[in-house]
Amino acid sequence: MRTRQAPLPEDYVGLPEVEVDARIVLAKEKLGSKLVILGHHYQRDAIIQHADFRGDSYKLAKDAGSHPEAEFIVFCGVHFMAESADILTPPSQKVILPNMAAGCSMADMANIFQVNNCWKALGSLVDLQGVVPVTYINSAANLKAFVGERDGTVCTSTNAPSAVEWALNKGEKVLFFPDQHLGRNTGVRLGYDPSDMVLWDPFKPMGGNTAEQIERAKFILWKGHCSVHSRFTVAQIAKAREEYPDVNVIVHPECELSVVQASDDNGSTAYIIKAVESAPAGTTWAVGTEINLVQRLANENPDKTIFCLDPQICPCSTMYRIHPSFLLYALEELVEGRVVNQVLVPEEIAEPSRNALAQMLLLP
Ligand code: 13P
Ligand code: SF4
Repeated sequence: MRTRQAPLPEDYVGLPEVEVDARIVLAKEKLGSKLVILGHHYQRDAIIQHADFRGDSYKLAKDAGSHPEAEFIVFCGVHFMAESADILTPPSQKVILPNMAAGCSMADMANIFQVNNCWKALGSLVDLQGVVPVTYINSAANLKAFVGERDGTVCTSTNAPSAVEWALNKGEKVLFFPDQHLGRNTGVRLGYDPSDMVLWDPFKPMGGNTAEQIERAKFILWKGHCSVHSRFTVAQIAKAREEYPDVNVIVHPECELSVVQASDDNGSTAYIIKAVESAPAGTTWAVGTEINLVQRLANENPDKTIFCLDPQICPCSTMYRIHPSFLLYALEELVEGRVVNQVLVPEEIAEPSRNALAQMLLLP
């Protein structure tokens, strides 16, 4: 869920980049081991250079609890990631999101009222004992709680196949939200056909399906998507292959099924990084994911040709809201003993969410 962010105090606006950097370094020094900065791979370089740890959402969720010495975890990523970190850390640790308006447009495509309505509607047709809810980690904490209360699981792009396999061993159907594409790609990867899946449109009665379609479906996929990854197309892949006949095309599984199928490989941000970094020198890579990551990969691997599939720059506009000035402000407030932008999930939501996240961490 995206929250409002008060404007930065005037003396933080328009500061020269070098000054912001130097003051961040100084604040970090003053806070010492009381502070850990986590950075998601989609953050800009100006932020990543200050991160103590960087990773994909799975690693960052897993690692959130492994810095017990830190009183403050400053999360340079988006709101749902900071919420997961808060859920997985003890109350003595405070999780801070430098800009509270850094949400995720995909996560905002499913809210608890809509999911409750969907569940009620499904219950009028099928035995809910056989429906296992799986939420992508890109979702608000109250949706993770919904899943935890119904013995489902959270998943990330790293473990979505294990999560869905686990769910379908346990029940007859999986309700997957909020990303239809990750759900569909995962189902196909596990050997299911798109015809085993229905799309649930929260704005239509019965999600836009007939009772018969729902009864027959193995997958009920929420009609959500990522605005960054839905920009990648099969035509872009064809063009990359035409220009570079030896190109390796690798995309994130939030892309449409046709794009995933036209690519050579797909996986989480960490998977993409590993695949490209471990490839032989001289290879060529067209990457279908957020531009900050692709640009960094290109800079850090000058022995390879690496470019973004979409020739128009495609940043994640919400990740981008973590501007260095916001990071500086949050850190200097901590130095002064004031905590700003704390992400605090109420315990009644945190507890069932924790169960759903714990289930995810148990997946193979
Ligand atoms: P990863 O889990 O691969 O880090 O992806 C998170 C995300 O938001 C992708 O758009
Ligand atoms: Fe959300 Fe897409 Fe940005 Fe990832 S890239 S944080 S899914 S909007």
